[in-house]
Amino acid sequence: MAQLWGGRFTKETDQLVYRFNSSISFDQKFYKQDITGSMAHVRMLAEQGILTEEEREQILEGLQGILADVESGKLIITDEYEDIHSFVEANLTDRVGAPGKKLHTGRSRNDQVALDMRLYTRDEVQETDELLKKLLEVLLRIMEENTETIMPGFTHLQKAQPITLAHHIGAYFEMFKRDRSRLHDIYERMNYCPLGAGALAGTTYPLDREYTAEQLGFYGPMLNSMDAVSDRDYLIEFLSAMSTIMMHLSRFCEEIILWNSNEYQFVEIDDAYSTGSSIMPQKKNPDIAELIRGKTGRVYGALTSLLTTMKGIPLAYNKDMQEDKELVFDAIDTTKGCISLFTGMMDTIGFCRERMNNSARHGFTNATDAADYLVNHGVPFRDAHGIVGRLVLYCIEKKIALDDMSLEEYKAVSPVFEKDIYEAISLENCVNKRLTIGAPGKEAMEKVIGIYREYLK
Ligand code: ARG
Repeated sequence: MAQLWGGRFTKETDQLVYRFNSSISFDQKFYKQDITGSMAHVRMLAEQGILTEEEREQILEGLQGILADVESGKLIITDEYEDIHSFVEANLTDRVGAPGKKLHTGRSRNDQVALDMRLYTRDEVQETDELLKKLLEVLLRIMEENTETIMPGFTHLQKAQPITLAHHIGAYFEMFKRDRSRLHDIYERMNYCPLGAGALAGTTYPLDREYTAEQLGFYGPMLNSMDAVSDRDYLIEFLSAMSTIMMHLSRFCEEIILWNSNEYQFVEIDDAYSTGSSIMPQKKNPDIAELIRGKTGRVYGALTSLLTTMKGIPLAYNKDMQEDKELVFDAIDTTKGCISLFTGMMDTIGFCRERMNNSARHGFTNATDAADYLVNHGVPFRDAHGIVGRLVLYCIEKKIALDDMSLEEYKAVSPVFEKDIYEAISLENCVNKRLTIGAPGKEAMEKVIGIYREYLK
């Protein structure tokens, strides 16, 4: 057991207490951030005349050595230390002697851990954003290739109106684009430095908080030391953004699972992204999509968990906050893993364009357009709706599509119909006449694709 705080104690910590309290098993994840933060702190202390230049150099060299040795595997982080901060400080003092003991001047583990977690999360926010960008590049390619791939659009999971695959994928493009903008917002709000807040009330040393903040790439220091050590809003925001990303992935996965089913056959997931059954030789299962859908619950759980942990904590630091790490780490690894796998799955998936087209042809997806045809010939929409409803009923009984009816059959229901009804309800026309911005018509879609290309540049 190596602890930083034995002085006022007369007894050894109980073994179970030590293990219950210790965080090294998970906070070793940010050894690099801890060392980087310490380096900035030491440079600032020297700049302010609190450490000599010689002490600064010795400490920096020691820290550099620890970082290199941990990275090369020469130095193993073990659980004989309470947390990563104790590990680094103890190793530093072993290496450089007395100056190492000055590292913690004007600092507390409270502002230190707040800094480490912020630095770690800041990188992860950016990495998540980059992964989303890669996913968007794949989605954009699929859109570019499928502005003429007609498929049914659904409401209530019932065929509604014809759309294109580009249009359907474009809806997800918008969702992930919003996710990226949420990540940017979080970054802007979180990028302020807690270091120098001390345990809760700042310090009496003349620390230059602007200087440490600047060295570490922050916009500036956090302006209230109590808030600095106890703010976990940025983690909650990030968990919330990740939950939304997972919700989007999960919806998309649900569609892929449906589309990949024997009934739909709209897509074929690549063999490399499918799994088999141990008993049924014919099976090719969409396990990856199902697992992503499943893991969404885990990320929501982390969000609920941290919100609940934080809700009763009085100012300032309390040990409850140590609970933020494992669940945030897990949520980050889960979300990033899911985005990457999903991107790979979408990059290799096959689209069965004929099946999609056929599906749009059978299911009266052009019924609205038949009604619009009547409206364009002077029939009030409500009457047109009723007429086409009767046509649909007739077709269902005869097991045919609207396109298969003869002009006589049309005229028997309404004399307004003429030969050009067939053109008006052809799927291609139904789609391509929808030209308002955001609609599936090819020209409208291409404008949007152009905007997306610019956005991804
Ligand atoms: N392991 C602690 C955490 O993760 C570090 C801060 C400890 N501070 C303290 N006063 N015990 O929150």
